[in-house]
Amino acid sequence: MEPVFKLSGREKTSLVLRYLRGCWGLFVTGLLCNCVASLLGAVTPQIIRITVDSILGSEPPALPAFAQRLLGWEALKADPMRALMLTAAAVLAVAVLRGLFSYGQRIQLTKGTQHYLKSIRDDLYRHIQYLPFAWHKQNPTGDIIQRCTSDVDVIRNFVCMQLTEVIRTVFLIILYMTIMFTMHLRLATIALLFIPIVTVSSFAFYGMISKRFQAADEAEGALTTCAQENLTGVRVVRAFGRERHEEEKFGEKNEYFSALWIKLGKLLSVYWASGTLLTCLQVMVIVVAGAVEAVNGTLTLGDFLVFVSYNSALAWPVRALGRVLADMSKAGVSMDRVGYILQAEEERDDAEAVPAVTGDIVFDHVTFAYEGLDVLKDVSFTVREGETFAILGGTGSGKSTLVHLLDRLYDLPQDGGSISIGGVDIRGMQRGTLRRNVGLVLQEPFLFSRTVGENICATRPEATKTEMRRAASIACVDEAINTFSDG
Ligand SMILES: Nc1ncnc2c1ncn2[C@@H]1O[C@H](COP(=O)(O)OP(=O)(O)OP(=O)(O)O)[C@@H](O)[C@H]1O
Ligand SMILES: [Mg+2]
Repeated sequence: MEPVFKLSGREKTSLVLRYLRGCWGLFVTGLLCNCVASLLGAVTPQIIRITVDSILGSEPPALPAFAQRLLGWEALKADPMRALMLTAAAVLAVAVLRGLFSYGQRIQLTKGTQHYLKSIRDDLYRHIQYLPFAWHKQNPTGDIIQRCTSDVDVIRNFVCMQLTEVIRTVFLIILYMTIMFTMHLRLATIALLFIPIVTVSSFAFYGMISKRFQAADEAEGALTTCAQENLTGVRVVRAFGRERHEEEKFGEKNEYFSALWIKLGKLLSVYWASGTLLTCLQVMVIVVAGAVEAVNGTLTLGDFLVFVSYNSALAWPVRALGRVLADMSKAGVSMDRVGYILQAEEERDDAEAVPAVTGDIVFDHVTFAYEGLDVLKDVSFTVREGETFAILGGTGSGKSTLVHLLDRLYDLPQDGGSISIGGVDIRGMQRGTLRRNVGLVLQEPFLFSRTVGENICATRPEATKTEMRRAASIACVDEAINTFSDG
């Protein structure tokens, strides 16, 4: 099992910000469009307020003097039908404008999101190409794939949707609260009180749920690994009639995975249900308190309508804030999981590394262990240039290890003796040139899902057709290839 890796808060921030380079402009314009749309959203209830209070009712209009002059309020007041048409047109115009800005917001955020996602994926993929062989041996492929797909997706969701939603909600709360406070202090205070209650309850939940998400994520990794190993080893499975066993093994993991998500689902349901209850309570309190104020004459009917509609408009985003906070725990876990890959050190040649040379290969008192498991102990031999050299030994005696060391797939520790070619220690050679000079036929055959030709030339794409054919004939596969319909 891979060690549990955790990023510090600062490392998480830097992970989030690193990939925003080149696309933050899209997010900023998207958010600006969003703010304008929210602002326009606050206008409609005000139009209704004026309609109810000053056109249908007899209150002085809640409009500055210049706006009243501009509208020709006196004449308008004398012709209520025309005034109503005008307010209807205003509501429509605001709705259209709001739609336009919402559209702009969506487009910009979508572009930003894709840009962000692409940067993370590219960087991860590039990084993984350069991670040492030992790292790949230690980490199951299915788990790595899961970290690169679902976990990246959780981070994308966090940065591109949840974070923007938090900014948007905070702006909305400030905007609506400011207007409400200028309208009616007591009622606004009641409305404001609900916000921390909802937020704090989300926070409590956030602490509770974090571990369960991690367990669910790990179970998903185990499931993917299981499926991937089964598919890779399909020949073994069929040859030894292990289908039943494989099915059971997968079934067990699958059941565990489902059980975890059901548990998580139950918790989430409680959260959502209590959230709905709180929201209803909030609307109810405002309606009752507002009605009392209206009866007492401290609140006009129009003001009351504004309060109810602002309050309803806030209820959903404030509740969503709770969800975002709950989901943030998931993002933290995913950041740890992706960070685990990103922090792994890439294979890098020392600055003074020299290109590989040819000559005698000398293993001099080589001692090597895989994480405490001794494999080679004080092995010495010399392979003269041009000589053919064979090594025989029992299974697991370390033959492949010798070649892996020669190829620097594993590096010999400083106190583990030395391997040299032409008198130069291979630890001082560039890995790239060394590996180009060491031909390695792997024990486990593997073909890329490409043409036979591309597989033969995998290590030398620039090889000519003749060279490729020659290689095929040496490996005695040319006849078989010729029987394929497309060669
Ligand atoms: N990446 C690894 N991590 C830990 N132990 C390993 C690793 N690779 C090999 N070993 C262990 O090191 C020992 C030597 O393995 P190696 O593959 O070199 O043997 P071999 O002589 O090539 O065997 P075979 O004849 O089966 O090919 C074995 O006990 C093996 O289990
Ligand atoms: Mg071997």
